[in-house]
Amino acid sequence: MKGLILSGGKGTRLRPLTFTTAKQLIPVANTPVLVRVIQMMKDAGIIDIGIVIGDTGEEVKAAIGDGSRWDARITYIPQDAPLGLAHAVKISQPFIGDDRFVMVLGDNVIQGGIQSLIRQFDEGSYNSQIVLTQVKEPQHYGVAVLRGDGSIERLVEKPRQYLSNLALVGIYMFDSNVFTAVNSIKPSWRNELEITDAIQWLVTHHYAVFPYVHTGWWVDTGKATDMLEANSLVLEELRPSIADTAMIDEHSTVDSRVTLSAGAQIINSVVRGPTIIGENARIVNSYIGPFTSIDSDCVVENAEIERSIVLGHSRIADLPARIQDSLIGRRTNVTRSTTRPIAYKLTLGDYSNVGLL
Ligand code: DAU
Repeated sequence: MKGLILSGGKGTRLRPLTFTTAKQLIPVANTPVLVRVIQMMKDAGIIDIGIVIGDTGEEVKAAIGDGSRWDARITYIPQDAPLGLAHAVKISQPFIGDDRFVMVLGDNVIQGGIQSLIRQFDEGSYNSQIVLTQVKEPQHYGVAVLRGDGSIERLVEKPRQYLSNLALVGIYMFDSNVFTAVNSIKPSWRNELEITDAIQWLVTHHYAVFPYVHTGWWVDTGKATDMLEANSLVLEELRPSIADTAMIDEHSTVDSRVTLSAGAQIINSVVRGPTIIGENARIVNSYIGPFTSIDSDCVVENAEIERSIVLGHSRIADLPARIQDSLIGRRTNVTRSTTRPIAYKLTLGDYSNVGLL
């Protein structure tokens, strides 16, 4: 069985972070979402993985490499334009060949445990298996209408009128019949070849498509609030550990649900879990509250921060109020201004979002 990860497309709703970072490379609990997907595939026994890349392809290649870090073999599949998930499948046919495969969206974060489902598909005889879950706003997703016996009646991409609250999660399993489907469908109103339409084609033509209803959590990390939500959920699941080279001084209090990476230092501070502190990060005279990920080489000094994600090499210092529900990009400085005029002094990128007291 092979794996296909979609990492093309544009992350416009995660600007300004996505001006410099592919959205799939933004970390939750200090691990890029794309890396979590690779690890999930590896756990399901898949080593041959294709990654569809677009405009941010070079950055994805630089971050992921040839996959040897995970004992996997990565093949990059360039997509000229984001013409749809089914288009991504279409251009991946030379890589997939006749194999069965699992396709996962590179910006989706799902609760652990889906590996056994992938293995079952590999050993079974279904032509396709899709994963569904209940959502509050089905109009933003592909949805499935199921019959009383649990079989699929129909699938619709982003329905304007309510049809069902069961959304297609970004995990799909196929055999090679999907290539006939993606070559038979036409682009949708948004000019994309929709995977939902390809699966509907399989259903209409009596291929066996099994709908699995997932009851755990799942986050499509399209917006900053989704990233924070995914970060909290992943931190909840993380088995905490303290690296040998991490240091906690005698004036600090560190909860049992805290992960400290190599070289992290906690000095005269309080750290409440679930939280992760990255490699060589320094927390000095500060409070780090639950559901926070501080990435490597960051410094937090004389500050309080809670339920936030701070990307690598950033500095947060001398703040009069607590930072909360925030997503802070790489190499960012958030400090108190001490020179006159006493005022908010901001250097913000396009599409930034600031909530001042
Ligand atoms: O998140 C689940 C939803 O994902 C499903 O419920 C929908 O049925 C499905 O169409 C998809 O909807 P989105 O509109 O949210 O997909 P998005 O454009 O965000 O793309 C998902 C991922 O696939 C993202 O990592 C970018 C990548 N992608 C997307 C397109 C359109 C590609 O690699 N190539 C593409 O052509």
